[in-house]
Amino acid sequence: MIESLKQLREQAVKELGTISDLALLDEFVVKYFGRKQGKLTFVLRSLKNLDERQRKIMGTDANEVKIEIWHLIDERRQAIKKMGKKEFIDLTIDGAKPELGHLHPITKIRQEIENIFKSMGFAVMLGPEIESDYYNFEALNIPKDHPARDMFDTFYIKDGDNLVLRTHTSPMQARIMENHKPPFAVIIPGKTYRNEATDARHEHTFHQIEGLVVDENVTLAQLKWTLETLIKNLFGKEIKTQFRPSYFPFTEPSVEVLMSCIFCKQKGCSICGQSGWLEVLGAGMVHPKVFEAAGYPKGKYSGFAFGLGIMRFAMLKYNIPDIRMFHQNDQRFLNQF
Ligand code: FA5
Repeated sequence: MIESLKQLREQAVKELGTISDLALLDEFVVKYFGRKQGKLTFVLRSLKNLDERQRKIMGTDANEVKIEIWHLIDERRQAIKKMGKKEFIDLTIDGAKPELGHLHPITKIRQEIENIFKSMGFAVMLGPEIESDYYNFEALNIPKDHPARDMFDTFYIKDGDNLVLRTHTSPMQARIMENHKPPFAVIIPGKTYRNEATDARHEHTFHQIEGLVVDENVTLAQLKWTLETLIKNLFGKEIKTQFRPSYFPFTEPSVEVLMSCIFCKQKGCSICGQSGWLEVLGAGMVHPKVFEAAGYPKGKYSGFAFGLGIMRFAMLKYNIPDIRMFHQNDQRFLNQF
């Protein structure tokens, strides 16, 4: 019996040394001192079966062991509490995974379009969203009182101070030509604003990418090739495109480019206005008046420019029937991308 008491003590002391949290310490107490199954409780309880002399000796020993272990338990408890205060960090526990966001579909398609242009040698530049009347209109051959101003339902910042929210990214054509000598090929992505009555195809705040290529002997055929290369890369070879004559004061000749409507497979629907085609961009050869405003020598350069509506591209690419969904920030919509 003395032997088993000794062993029990040793075992208990050893076990205590490995305990590093309070829950395990409580388990330890139950294991040795539990009323029903406690190991030391069992020894103490079996004392009554010994004869008186043995009971005295064993009783004293057993009591000493009991007191010693309670003492050690107390020490351990203090030590664990202290450890807790020093912010014990368990480096083996997995960290909480931060929730990552993702790119907005407009950003995704903008980056995709930028990459296609970059692969064709275009540089990317940015311009101001608050623009002067001069760059938004005059430098683009749209003088005051020109009827073409009606093409753009303009948000004026303040009466009389000649500042507008740019209605298109084309003002950057004038800004770049003022500061750069050809040859260059550049695209300018950015937000644009129009005082529109919104519908499935029209937003008041939308995104465009402007393109401008100027050199000697730039041709309309190069413009057509560039835009077709973009569209084929984005949508695959099946998509149909149509180039129609159009009018912009800052290009001559001007074209508008339409893509076959994927929503109705060209049968006609409300999204394409029953036409089977969706207009995605305007383009043309840079007008001599725009070169003149930039101070380029007369007749030396030619160039092409285009302004594409990237939300229209995104609608077709991601099968989105209403342009207004992009800015509603509905998580059920956004989480699909
Ligand atoms: C222009 O904005 C011209 N600056 C484009 C241009 C650039 C022509 C360079 C020639 C040379 P337009 O208003 O058609 O043109 O707009 C161009 C494209 O922007 C449209 O084809 C369409 O895809 C998109 N867009 C125009 N208005 C809206 C709108 N309210 N909501 C969404 N997209 C629009």
